[in-house]
Formats: sequence, C-alpha cells, structure tokens
Amino acid sequence: MSNKTPHDSNPQDIILDVLPEHEKSQVAADDYSTTGHEWDGIKEFDKPIPRWWLWTYYLTVLFSIGYMIAYPAIPLVNDYTKGLLGWSSRDMVEQEISAARLAQSKYIDAMQTASLEEVAGNEELMTFAVEGGKSAYAVNCVQCHGSGATGSKGYPNLNDDEWLWGGTMEDIYTTVAHGIRFDEDDDSRYSEMPAFLTDEILEKADIIQVAHFVRAFSGLDHDPSAASAGAEIFADNCAACHGEEGKGDQEQGAPNLADAVWLYGSEFDSIVTTISASRKGVMPAWAHRLDDTTIKQLTMFIHSRGGGQ
Ligand code: HEC
Ligand code: HEC
Repeated sequence: MSNKTPHDSNPQDIILDVLPEHEKSQVAADDYSTTGHEWDGIKEFDKPIPRWWLWTYYLTVLFSIGYMIAYPAIPLVNDYTKGLLGWSSRDMVEQEISAARLAQSKYIDAMQTASLEEVAGNEELMTFAVEGGKSAYAVNCVQCHGSGATGSKGYPNLNDDEWLWGGTMEDIYTTVAHGIRFDEDDDSRYSEMPAFLTDEILEKADIIQVAHFVRAFSGLDHDPSAASAGAEIFADNCAACHGEEGKGDQEQGAPNLADAVWLYGSEFDSIVTTISASRKGVMPAWAHRLDDTTIKQLTMFIHSRGGGQ
C-alpha cells in the first residue's frame, strides 16, 4: 500500500494530477495573486472575469435596452410603455382569431344559405359541419346524452337507428332547434302519454295486465293469461299512440314497444311505472341559444352517427 493517501497530499497536486498535460503547464505557469482565502490547501485566485463573459454580459445589457425601446416593457400606474414597434400580444391573438374566422367564413356563409340536403351533398361542407357539430355536441349535449351519444335511462341513444321523433335530417333539425315538451318554445315537439294510474284512467290490475302484454311484444318473460287480458286494454288505451302492433309513432314521439331498445328500461316494474305515471321527458330547444349554422352542424353530426329513416 502506498503511504501517500489523498489526505496527506496537497490538493493542488491532486488537481494537477487529473488535468491534461497542456493545461498542467498553464496552471503551473500562471502566477496570479490569490485573495488570501484558503481552505484545506485550496487557494482562491484573484483572477479577472474572462473577456468573453464580460462582452456577453455587455451585449445582453444592450439587447435589453433595445428590447425595452422596441417592445412593451415597463409597467406604469395605469398603463405601460408600448414600445416603438407597437407590438401587443393581444393584437396578435386577435389577428390569429380573425385569420381563423376568415378561413371558416367561406364555410359558414355557405352553411347559412345551404339546405340540409345541399350540405349533405357537398363533401367539404359536410366535413366542416360534422366537425363543428362534434364540438358543439361536446359543449351542449354530453351532460344528457353522454360523451359517446349512447344516452342513458330517459335520454335516448343518438347512435342507433331507433328514433322517437324521426331520424331524417329534417326531423333531427326540428328536434334540436325546438326541443321536446319544452314550454318556452311554441314549436316544441309535444305529446303526452296519460298517467293511467295517477289520472285514474286504469286500475292497478289493468296496468299489470297491459304491462305483461307490452313485454310480450318484444318476447320478454310474461304471464300469457295476463297478457291476453291486457290485449284489449292496449287496443283501447294505447294503440292510438303506440300502434296496433306496438311499433310506435314518430309523429307523437311514442316509442316502439316491440323492439329491444328501451328509453326507460324493459324491467316489469319500470314498464308499470311508465304506464302508471307517464314520463314526459324534456329536451331543451336550442334555436334560442345557438345560431342556425351550429344547429345545422349538430344535425349533420347526429345524422352521420345514427341517422336514417
Ligand atoms: C337536459 C337534457 C338534454 C340535453 C342538454 C340535450 N338533450 Fe336531447 N334529449 C333529451 C331528452 C330527455 C330526450 C328525449 C325526450 C323524449 O322523451 O321524447 C332527447 C331527445 C333528443 C333527440 C331525439 C331522439 C329521437 O330518438 O328522436 C335528439 C336528436 C336530441 N335529443 C339531440 C340533442 C342535441 C343535439 C343536444 C345538444 C345540442 C341535446 N339533445 C341536448 C334531453 C337532453
Ligand atoms: C298520447 C300518446 C300515448 C298513449 C295513449 C300511450 N303512450 Fe306510452 N308513451 C308515449 C310517449 C310519448 C312515451 C315516451 C315517454 C314519455 O315521454 O312519457 C311513451 C312511453 C311508453 C313506454 C316506455 C317505453 C320505453 O322505451 O321505455 C311504455 C312501456 C308505454 N309508453 C306503454 C304504454 C301503454 C301500455 C299505454 C296504454 C295503457 C300507453 N303507453 C299509452 C305516448 C303514449
């Protein structure tokens, strides 16, 4: 073992050891005075700041003075220095927004005058409409119909081909613009299934029978004798809206009862509740809140997902 451990060697020698050859000679040759500070043999040289550093520093000072003259810089009491170039971040955003508007205005103008069919027939307009409709949907409709438009109990799925009020472009447009059972809009879609128990139109026993009959339409478990007793009750009280065969009626927003799609659920209790108390789902009208172009965009977006018939 060497008797020369790092502890008893001079730190300056250790530094010299690790330096490359050409710098070694420089360190050795430099004969700067020191500040007199010394820790564990490490001395503090009293060297001037390197030239390049000093010049960089002067340049940054010059740059900042130039910057303060050219650009907004110094806050004053109620205002700030504007700078000779007159640049402002607010103006820049405004310019970007108006450039984006200009780029869109071509489409927005075209959407304003085009009929729904014309929009659908024009690929560029259609892309613009569906994309715009998608973002308007995300802002206005997700809270009720869900982010994927799949709906939930009481809120219809907008992706499927089952429509309460119709799935043509015109139907969807009317629904979105004027809403459903929305009092504030005189053109709102309207219909009212009677609350058969609450309004004392049917007895509880009748309702149970007709509920069995309703479940029979779509092949769900039911009591056949109750269902056959329910057939007449259905014909008398329900067929006017839901149709003889329970296929529903889009004029009245009466759901098809003979398919697998249920607005309020297919469970026996849920059907009994609907018949007893009715539901009267409300969908707001959007014509008062959104411009016509946006409603057209929403229509195209919904139609592109589950439109049809
Ligand atoms: C406050 C909840 C709510 C909001 C928000 C809402 N809806 Fe609805 N929507 C409903 C309800 C409830 C119904 C079903 C009403 C009924 O029972 O007939 C419905 C029905 C519809 C229908 C008819 C479906 C069919 O089968 O005929 C369409 C289309 C529709 N909504 C689109 C939209 C669009 C587009 C938006 C956003 C601009 C939107 N809704 C926002 C509650 C809402
Ligand atoms: C005036 C028209 C009308 C009449 C009459 C009517 N309904 Fe309805 N029915 C509707 C409407 C509209 C809905 C949608 C729910 C709502 O908004 O109340 C509905 C919903 C339903 C539902 C829920 C369907 C689902 O998908 O969840 C059932 C079940 C139903 N009706 C059964 C009946 C039965 C049984 C009768 C007769 C005893 C009847 N309805 C009479 C209009 C009618």
